[in-house]
Amino acid sequence: MHSIFRTKPVEHYIDLAKKTRLSRSLTSLDLVLMGIGVIVGTGIFVFTGIGAAKYAGPGLMLSFVLSGLTCAFAALAYAELASMVPITGSAYSYASTVLGEIVAWIVGWALILEYSIGAAAVATGWSDYVTDLLEAAGFPLAQHLSAAPAEGGFIDLMSVVIIALLTILLCLGIRESARFNRVIVTIKLLVVAVFIILAAPKVNPALWSPFLPYGWNGVVAGASVAFFAYVGFDTLANSAEECKNPARALPIGILGSLVIVTVLYITVTAIMTGVVPYQALGSGAPVSVVLKSVGYNIGAVITGLGIVFGLTTVILVLMYSQSRLFLALSRDGLLPRFVGRVHPKYKTPWLVTIASGVIIASLAGFFTLDVLAELVNIGTLFAFIAVSLGVLILRIKRPDLPRPFRCPLPMVITPLAVISCAYLMYNLSSTTWRFFLVWMALGILVYVFYSYGNTEKKDEPDPEEMAG
Ligand code: ALA
Repeated sequence: MHSIFRTKPVEHYIDLAKKTRLSRSLTSLDLVLMGIGVIVGTGIFVFTGIGAAKYAGPGLMLSFVLSGLTCAFAALAYAELASMVPITGSAYSYASTVLGEIVAWIVGWALILEYSIGAAAVATGWSDYVTDLLEAAGFPLAQHLSAAPAEGGFIDLMSVVIIALLTILLCLGIRESARFNRVIVTIKLLVVAVFIILAAPKVNPALWSPFLPYGWNGVVAGASVAFFAYVGFDTLANSAEECKNPARALPIGILGSLVIVTVLYITVTAIMTGVVPYQALGSGAPVSVVLKSVGYNIGAVITGLGIVFGLTTVILVLMYSQSRLFLALSRDGLLPRFVGRVHPKYKTPWLVTIASGVIIASLAGFFTLDVLAELVNIGTLFAFIAVSLGVLILRIKRPDLPRPFRCPLPMVITPLAVISCAYLMYNLSSTTWRFFLVWMALGILVYVFYSYGNTEKKDEPDPEEMAG
C-alpha cells in the first residue's frame, strides 16, 4: 500500500521526457500559432455579443482585462513549470511532482472538463455554423441529423463528422496537425483583421457611454464569458515532448499567444460595442451583426466562413490535449497502460487519440453543450490554482532545480493567481458548482476502485509496451 499523497520526483519526469518516443518537431512559432489556434474561438466570435448585451455592456472590455490578468498570472506559473518539467500531461504532471498522487489525479480529472467538454462544446458551435451554411447553399440537413435529442433531433451529425476527421488527422501525426493549424490560424487572424479594418472607422465613442450599465457585478459576470475566450493557452504545456526546444518554446508559446489574444479581444470588444449599441449585440453571431449594421453584407458571409475554419483549430488542439493527458495518466498507471501505446510509424499515441475522439464525439453528438461552457471554466480554473500552488511550493522546497523560465516575483504572482482564479470560480453559478462536485466525486471513486491499485503494480512504464 502506498500513500495517496506520494509524489514523483521532478527528476523522474525530466528523465521520462528525455525518453519520449513522440516526434520532436514543434518550434516556438508553431506553439504561438497553436496557442492562437486553440484560444481564439467561440469565446470571441459567439459569446462576446451575449456578454455585452446581457452582462456587462461596453464594460465587457473590463471583463476581458480582469480575466486576462487572471490568465496572465496563471500563464507565468505555467511557463515556469512547463519549461522546468517539459513533460506532457500539463497541470496533472506538475501536480504529481508537488501535490501528490490523489491531488494530481483530481487535477487530471478536472482537466477532462476543460479538454473534452471544451472540444465538444466548440464542435457543437462549429456544427451550427456549418448547418446554416449548408442550408444557405441549398443542402439543408434533416432535423434528426442536425440536432441533439434535447433539441428535438437524434444526433448532431456534423459535430461527430468534424471530430472524426480531426481524430484521423491527429493519429497521422503532430507535424501534419501543426501544418494544418498554421494555415487555419492565418485564416482566423485574417478574419479578425478584416473585421477590425472594416468596422473600426465606424466606431462612435458615444456608444461607450454608459460604460458600466450593469455596474461592477456585470463586469464580473462578463468575466466568466471572457474567461472562456482565454481557455486554451495552458494546453500548450501538453506539447512539451513534441517541441524541439521546450525550455524556450513553451514560455514563448504560452505568454506570446496570451498577449496577442488579449490585445485582439479588447480591440474587438471595443469595436463591437462602439459600432452597435450593446443591447443589440445579443445574437450568437456578433461579428456578422456588426458588419451587416455598417453595410458589409459580403464581409459578414466571408467572416462567417473564416469562423468555421477558425473553430476547427480550437477543437483540434483541445482534442490533442485530451489525448496527451490520457497518455500521461496511462504512463503513470492511473489509466490502463496499454492505451498509451505510441504508433511505430506515425509516432502518435493513436489508441488514446481514438478513445478521446469517441468520448468527445459522443458528448458533442448527443448533448447540447453550449450551456456547459461554465463547466469548462470551473475545471480550468481549478487546474490553474493547482499549477500556481505548485510553482510556489517548488520554489520553497526545491530552490535548487534549474528553471529555464522564472516566474517574476513568485511570492506575489502565484498568490495573486490563486486568489483571482478562486474569485472567478466563486462567481460561477450554483448549478455549475453542483455538477463540478459530482464530477469530482466520480473521479475519486475511479481513483479508489481502479487507479490507486493500478499505480501500485509498477512505477515505471514498460518501454516495450510504450513502443506499441
Ligand atoms: N477559448 C476557446 C474559445 O473561445 C475555448 O472557443
